[in-house]
Amino acid sequence: MAAFSLLTPVFIGILCVFIVVILRSRGKSSNKLQETKKKNKESKPWVDEDLQDGTEILLNDGEDKEEWQDLEEEDLLHVPFAPAHYPVDEMVKRSKHFYELLNQRRSVRFISNEPVPREVIENIIRTAGTSPSGAHTEPWTFVVVQDPEVKHKVREIIEEEEEINYHKRMGDKWVSDLKKLRTNWVKEYLDTAPFLILIFKQVYGQLPNNKKRTHYYNEISVSIACGLLLAAIQNVGLVTVTTTPLNCGPRLRVLLQRPVNEKLLMLLPVGYPSKDATVPDLKRKPLQDIMVIV
Ligand SMILES: Cc1cc2nc3c(=O)[nH]c(=O)nc-3n(C[C@H](O)[C@H](O)[C@H](O)COP(=O)(O)O)c2cc1C
Repeated sequence: MAAFSLLTPVFIGILCVFIVVILRSRGKSSNKLQETKKKNKESKPWVDEDLQDGTEILLNDGEDKEEWQDLEEEDLLHVPFAPAHYPVDEMVKRSKHFYELLNQRRSVRFISNEPVPREVIENIIRTAGTSPSGAHTEPWTFVVVQDPEVKHKVREIIEEEEEINYHKRMGDKWVSDLKKLRTNWVKEYLDTAPFLILIFKQVYGQLPNNKKRTHYYNEISVSIACGLLLAAIQNVGLVTVTTTPLNCGPRLRVLLQRPVNEKLLMLLPVGYPSKDATVPDLKRKPLQDIMVIV
């Protein structure tokens, strides 16, 4: 008993040393974690900064942010479906024609101000809206800008951010990879194109009763819709350039008064190519490099 009470201060001493060692190593690993986070932030500015979108426009005052509603469990009718069944030679012909049409698609950065009928824009957006979506949530909003003043404001925001992107955020490697495309932060097409289509992904649904709805795979769904939109634009003989304006999402969302559940995914200027339009002479990978048969 006497020996035990003699050893107690020694035990307490050892215990204290252990605690200090554990706390120190924890401190080090949390510092490491913070360093890694910082590094990731630096290497992926296009992800991190756009997700820090604190520019909230609430749909209604006093909405309860935590309220979610399940998808409707209604007993949906299943109806017969019999799409066209083409003979093989017709199928081959159609597949070839469609490939040839889309193989002519190019990203065009010189767009004329020649007017385009609104009806055409409406039809190509209807086409994009036929896209499949996770659990049929249709998590997209296509904002069509035709007002020259708003287009110019969009241009101002994008050029301001893009200049910073090229000089600071993108880094030497990215800027040098883009050199062959001769792109920079000056985007005249944002003024000249008769229409700008800004595609927003709804990261969750906002129901009229203020409840939220899960939008499964919203980014993949909206990206597929954008692919269909590009094909529809090509189909009518108009041009565009796929753009993902880095770090412009929050400001453009506020400008266009879109709610907080919508994040900008893509911006497509749409119109006819200008008379002196050029494109980089890029080659596409041949089939054997992109297809694997197992
Ligand atoms: C996700 C994505 C983002 C892009 N972002 C931009 C962009 O911000 N600015 C731009 O001028 N082109 C952008 N492009 C266009 C590409 O540079 C172009 O598709 C590529 O060079 C191939 O050329 P093509 O579209 O004429 O086949 C983007 C393309 C994709 C798919």
